[in-house]
Amino acid sequence: MSERPRRTADQLRSRWWFDNPDHAGTTALCLERYMNYGITLEELSSGKPIIGIAQSGSDLTPCNRHHIQLVERVKAGIRAAGGVPFEFPLHPIHENVRRPTAALDRNLAYLGLVEVLHGYPLDGVLLTTGCDKTTPACLMAAATADIPAIVLSGGPMLNGWRGKERVGSGTIVWELRKRLATGEIDYPEFLARIADSAPSVGHCNTMGTASTMNSMAEALGMSLPGSAMIPAPYKERPMVAYETGARIVEMVWEDLRPSDILTREAFENAIVVCSALGGSSNAPVHINAIARHAGIELTNDDWQRLGHAIPLLANVMPAGAYLGEEFFRAGGVPAVVHELLTAGRLHGDALTVNGQTLRANCFGRETQDDDVIRRYADPLVESAGFLNLKGNLFDSALMKTSVISHDFRRRYLSRPEDPEAFEGKVAVFDGSEDYHARIDDPALDIDENTILVMRGAGPVGHPGGAEVVNMQPPEALIKRGIDSLPCLGDGRQSGTSGSPSILNASPEAATGGGLALLETGDRIRIDLKRGEANLLIDDEELAARRARLEASGGYPYRDHQTPWQEIQRSMVEPLDRGMTLAPATKYRAIAWDLPRD
Ligand code: FES
Ligand code: MG
Repeated sequence: MSERPRRTADQLRSRWWFDNPDHAGTTALCLERYMNYGITLEELSSGKPIIGIAQSGSDLTPCNRHHIQLVERVKAGIRAAGGVPFEFPLHPIHENVRRPTAALDRNLAYLGLVEVLHGYPLDGVLLTTGCDKTTPACLMAAATADIPAIVLSGGPMLNGWRGKERVGSGTIVWELRKRLATGEIDYPEFLARIADSAPSVGHCNTMGTASTMNSMAEALGMSLPGSAMIPAPYKERPMVAYETGARIVEMVWEDLRPSDILTREAFENAIVVCSALGGSSNAPVHINAIARHAGIELTNDDWQRLGHAIPLLANVMPAGAYLGEEFFRAGGVPAVVHELLTAGRLHGDALTVNGQTLRANCFGRETQDDDVIRRYADPLVESAGFLNLKGNLFDSALMKTSVISHDFRRRYLSRPEDPEAFEGKVAVFDGSEDYHARIDDPALDIDENTILVMRGAGPVGHPGGAEVVNMQPPEALIKRGIDSLPCLGDGRQSGTSGSPSILNASPEAATGGGLALLETGDRIRIDLKRGEANLLIDDEELAARRARLEASGGYPYRDHQTPWQEIQRSMVEPLDRGMTLAPATKYRAIAWDLPRD
């Protein structure tokens, strides 16, 4: 429960619009337009909480499209609890289709939702989430507005299958691209086999960014316990939609707000749970962003300090073998939380949207299948969280250690004289177009000791930051059996990828980051034990290169194509700071500073 007293009907925020005799004219104007489609005066002005429903489903966002049906159960729950539902659209964000990248729209959807939460007569909001960026956009706005808010995930798709083999969304693409490159399969087969991964409505069924971020919403305490990973078509999904609708009405009376829930302890819990899930490398970007909007400084050092030593418990692709259905049946997020609570790794007293603590919600909800959700003492991988690397090229870059394969470890991290370090010459690419044009160029002389570097792919270089750091080796190398090389870059990588790339390097090349100084043929040394990545070059040469770059006007990037690209580029912060809009992070609890009449 929140520490504030229960609200009374005359303290509802919506009274300012719907029941304000001092502003009789504007009040009447608000009422008449809602009444013109059949809402009664009694519903609007007799002290019922008005609940916004941020609808993220649309034809453009198929991962969330079933929210259009689910919302009927949400509205039934809201009405049964004495509230009045008002559904409105969230700016569409679809991961696979939006160009240049869906990440460009996270901050745009955030801004739009903030304005709705501030400028309309809402007492609380239910956030429908699913596809990758829909969840952080909604949580960032809830943190800024600070009106009672609850998350309803749409849930993952059913498992994909080919014969007896599980086919995971996204992850299969990364695998099949290699087989396409070697000619083992052709393009029609490639397309058909990828379609196997998407057998129903819902978001990606792997532990990609969508499943990760919805699980994070639950770990943060912002959705009902056990709700995040109910598969989209299961009967439990509409049931929890109803319960979530009913609960947000009660949260309004309790005045239970995001600021009560999104505390430092909650964010530390999210880091720990993310590590145990083998969660997406996009999670630190989004979680750090939500934290900053909640007024909490969370950094990638926190991710390494709290998360790196956590073992991998969720045996779900891309780090593991199973998919969303097995994860749900094994107990979902509460079973992972139970293991982590038992191991003393979480702040069990953190408050959640049902008014109970994380411990009260999850303790005792043990795994129902200890192959799918492992016991803490018997994990899939020890120390599975992110490493935060630093050096003379960047201040921060993340490496997702849960996906370091045996093969990668044997090739790069097993030299007896230097077990956690490797060194290689680099091949440098300026954006994904340059990579595709030149990766097979023999002049680059790429061999198994080459580190592939991608730059110009951060939030400024490629508006929103491109998921292009996990690069496939040249065809000739794949044909010789070398199907992955170490990769490093200032862009992001898909959460469904199993590549242990070093990514999100900040600051990025386009804003003066050190990757802009690299030249093909340079040598880089990466030392995981010391948390370092350094260009092996003397300081004078590095300074001379910097002087030349600055004299030339800095690292070049393509011009803006839309107004929003230009606006975002002018104020976006680096990936390690959450890729937030700099002026936006200072606003707190804006819903309570009522708009002018
Ligand atoms: Fe939407 Fe993966 S593409 S959830
Ligand atoms: Mg993605």
